[in-house]
Amino acid sequence: MGGRFMKDLILKNKKFVLITLVLVILTSVTATITPIIIQAVTNQTTGMSKNIFGIVITAMFVSFALQFALLIYRQNYAAKFNTEHISSLLRKMFEMKYDAYSKLEPTYLINRIVTAVDSLYLFMLSSLEGITQATFIIAVSLFLAFSVHWVIFVVLLLLIPVNYFGFRFINKRLKQKMEAMQSKSAIANKDLVSTLSNVDNIKQFSDYRTLENIVVPSLGKMYRTLANTNKFAQGSSSIIDFINQLVQTLIYLEITYSITQQWLPISTIVIIGIALPLFFNSLRKLTEVNLSFKTLETSLDFVKNELDHNKEDDGPQQLNTIESISFDNPAFKLGELNFRFFVRKQLSKGEVVYLRGPSGSGKSSLLKLLLKFRHSHGIHINNTPIEMISNHSLRSRIAYLSQHATILSRSLQENIGFGRLLTEEEKAYIEQSRILAPILQSKSWETLLMENGANLSGGEKQRIAIARMLLKDADVYILDESTSSIDQASSDDIFKTMLTMAKDKIVIYTSHDSESVKYATTIISVETERSGEPITSND
Ligand SMILES: Nc1ncnc2c1ncn2[C@@H]1O[C@H](COP(=O)(O)OP(=O)(O)O)[C@@H](O)[C@H]1O
Ligand SMILES: [Mg+2]
Repeated sequence: MGGRFMKDLILKNKKFVLITLVLVILTSVTATITPIIIQAVTNQTTGMSKNIFGIVITAMFVSFALQFALLIYRQNYAAKFNTEHISSLLRKMFEMKYDAYSKLEPTYLINRIVTAVDSLYLFMLSSLEGITQATFIIAVSLFLAFSVHWVIFVVLLLLIPVNYFGFRFINKRLKQKMEAMQSKSAIANKDLVSTLSNVDNIKQFSDYRTLENIVVPSLGKMYRTLANTNKFAQGSSSIIDFINQLVQTLIYLEITYSITQQWLPISTIVIIGIALPLFFNSLRKLTEVNLSFKTLETSLDFVKNELDHNKEDDGPQQLNTIESISFDNPAFKLGELNFRFFVRKQLSKGEVVYLRGPSGSGKSSLLKLLLKFRHSHGIHINNTPIEMISNHSLRSRIAYLSQHATILSRSLQENIGFGRLLTEEEKAYIEQSRILAPILQSKSWETLLMENGANLSGGEKQRIAIARMLLKDADVYILDESTSSIDQASSDDIFKTMLTMAKDKIVIYTSHDSESVKYATTIISVETERSGEPITSND
């Protein structure tokens, strides 16, 4: 991990870093002031004055107040910082290539993203502070040790490289184990979500054992990997801890012995009694920092290797409107497999196009090329090669409806506005289209829908998706099997609504119901040729 990342992180959060540093240094000063005062006082000939009590107690209170202020400030900052971070990672996920997104699977990606956000948060909020505080306190305690006896100073100083190289040695293996752990836990989470999300499927199992057999093995694997990582991390750090403790005990013994022999004044035990715990606690803190740093590095590697590396291609050409689409034997690559369509056709506004072909012939794949889900050749939009057109401007002119409508656990109107409320005009427009009539009989605009549309029929879900389309100002409407697996009445309504939208638009649809060909003005038969090695299965 480069220093560039650290530099960016610090620059982006300048104010936070600065305030944290100032507060941390102040707390460190107040935390180390007692032994320093005692040391200073015992060197004076006048002896110890009672004022010391007041100074020490005040320092402790100030230290506490500062730590408290730091805590509040950090937490307030965290809310904003985490929100921005997760949003930037979700944007990367949004910009991923279609096939990488679906191969890695959404739940897996989300889990890794959340881990990445958590680990940066931990790093920013505790590690940054930990490093500063530990470095400061180590320096002060080394100074105190030196003031007692130079041998103690040298012994403590030697412990720093022992700790440093010890951890460097551990870290190499730790990182591999952490990657395995983060990935296993995301896989287990993904399994859980995909298995448990369909309640109809879960409740038809006659006993829990069936469910247990599917989900528990991967959970077991996850927890074993976690245990292995912890065993390694804690086991190897405990060896270093043991060396530290051994040295600490030896120093205590030596000091006590020296005092009984009257080689050292009695006040040294007080100074050493405060300085050594400060020193060793700070060393230990650096260990924790090291761990959270490794977790962060692992997450950053994920962001770099999976999110940044799989960014989709974009084109430079902006598009205001889609006037025409032409197919000139489009071709694309799926893994090692080359697909070529035998389709030559120019489509222009007003056409309603039916894509014909048996299941598996490539209809959905062809439609996805129109949205630039995959890189392709042989398609022109307004006579410009589709590869050259900006993804955003192209997709903003196309409304796409697949077989499965996404239903959010929001109100009916927010489902149609996709998160926003509808205006009165929009509601009136949809009501007048009658596409939602069967739903509005029993529900209102305010009714909460459930995740995956659990309180809707298949036809109702598709009606909602069509209502969304009605509000989208687009030049091309794509309906891919949008009326499959729904009732005849909904299907008829959907086609009728579509035809009212079709004036001055290009509509392209597929349907396994060959009856629906009657709505078309143009028919395209889809035929493909495939060549190359078939894709090998995962792993
Ligand atoms: N993500 C994918 N990876 C590999 N092969 C795929 C993928 N998606 C579709 N295919 C294959 O491409 C072919 C065309 O699929 P598709 O376009 O969905 O056909 P249609 O919509 O006409 O039924 C099928 O043989 C299918 O198995
Ligand atoms: Mg299909």
